[in-house]
Amino acid sequence: MIYTVQSGSPLHGTVLCPGDKSISHRYAMLAAIAEGPSELRNFAASADCRSTLRCLSGLGIEIRTDGSTVRVSGQGLYGMKEPAAVLDAGNSGTTMRLLAGILAGCPFSSVIAGDESLARRPMGRIIRPLSLMGARIRSGNDGLPPLSIDGGDLQAIRYALPVASAQVKSCVLLAGLFARGVTAVEEKVPTRDHTEIALQYLGATLRHDGNWIEVDPHPRLSGAQLEVPADISGAAFFIVAAATVPGSELLLPGIGLNARRRALIEYLGSAGLRISVENESESAGEARGDLLVRFDPSCLDKPLPPIGAGLAAALIDEIPVLSILGAQAGGLLVRDAGELRVKECDRIAAIAANLRVMGAEVEEYPDGLAIRGGQRLQGAEIDSHGDHRIAMAFTVAGLAASGETRVRRAECADVSFPGFYEALSGAGS
Ligand code: S3P
Repeated sequence: MIYTVQSGSPLHGTVLCPGDKSISHRYAMLAAIAEGPSELRNFAASADCRSTLRCLSGLGIEIRTDGSTVRVSGQGLYGMKEPAAVLDAGNSGTTMRLLAGILAGCPFSSVIAGDESLARRPMGRIIRPLSLMGARIRSGNDGLPPLSIDGGDLQAIRYALPVASAQVKSCVLLAGLFARGVTAVEEKVPTRDHTEIALQYLGATLRHDGNWIEVDPHPRLSGAQLEVPADISGAAFFIVAAATVPGSELLLPGIGLNARRRALIEYLGSAGLRISVENESESAGEARGDLLVRFDPSCLDKPLPPIGAGLAAALIDEIPVLSILGAQAGGLLVRDAGELRVKECDRIAAIAANLRVMGAEVEEYPDGLAIRGGQRLQGAEIDSHGDHRIAMAFTVAGLAASGETRVRRAECADVSFPGFYEALSGAGS
């Protein structure tokens, strides 16, 4: 599908963002290995989280979906069954990497595969620690999916993460639930901690010692009623849309505000955007609140603060849409973000190429981009590369560009934000 965007009229009203994708994956997987039933409310309707549910069903877990509520019949740590067919993780790196941690601990053989994009994403980063723990994992092709896993009989390890990745950290911690001894992971750069929070909430024992996180094996996790907050990484597209289309004002209710995911709010606040947080609350250790965003021209008249080191990890999923804001403000420098090259597509190359077709000047580095701002973007034909965050970021770019922007393979937005285009038209653009 090609989505056509015209220069936008102001965005107004309330936008409901889908349930957080990262938290939904974790709640579903942990509910499956917990004991007893779980009820997961506001579960992400995204294609990625459906991939997780499909894999769990393939492992013999009974799942019932009723609107945005998902009920999972937890079977305990060792209750999954050997799958009769290849598990299909679709486009979802989180499904493959986190589930591999659990499968490594289960005493059976399984194969997990994905779509064309996932087939190009590096799995060596999880194969290495899981193999050190004693799992037998074969990859289809030089560390790439599909993965064949002969699980069971794991030994605990102490593992220093070579990349800042919540998926790798989570994979090792999940495998640690099945291991002999206490597994520990060191992360020098903090990444999202939804796995640690949910594990502790459901009954696992974790300890933090400096940069190290330790997990005790063989916990009895208990099924629970959990409510997923709305996805801040999905909200980011509307926040930037409101920041670039004059006269906009949007309310985004119930957004997840976990301390390791909310860097966007402080970042945009320091860039001069008027963004306020109201009605803050907490559920199962995850903070949430309503965001109110108002257009403010002062955010566009200077470069955005540079993004590097720890900030790049904290904003990793928001960098595509922040690049759009940077191009319309006075520019943006992104470094230390080489991980963007191994996401659903090479996001550094995709951002640079698409911004250039829209008339921006962009320099590409192995680990980032320098975007020259201060010039109105021109409508253009955009290649989304089938990557949801590229498709949505450039749809937002089209709102403030001159003329018409056409986004190719726009339907991939469903991977994290089904209903994105309808929500955008509902808000007035
Ligand atoms: C995610 C972690 C991040 C992020 C991805 C979701 C997660 O990936 O980009 O969208 O749910 O753990 P990495 O862990 O590979 O950085």
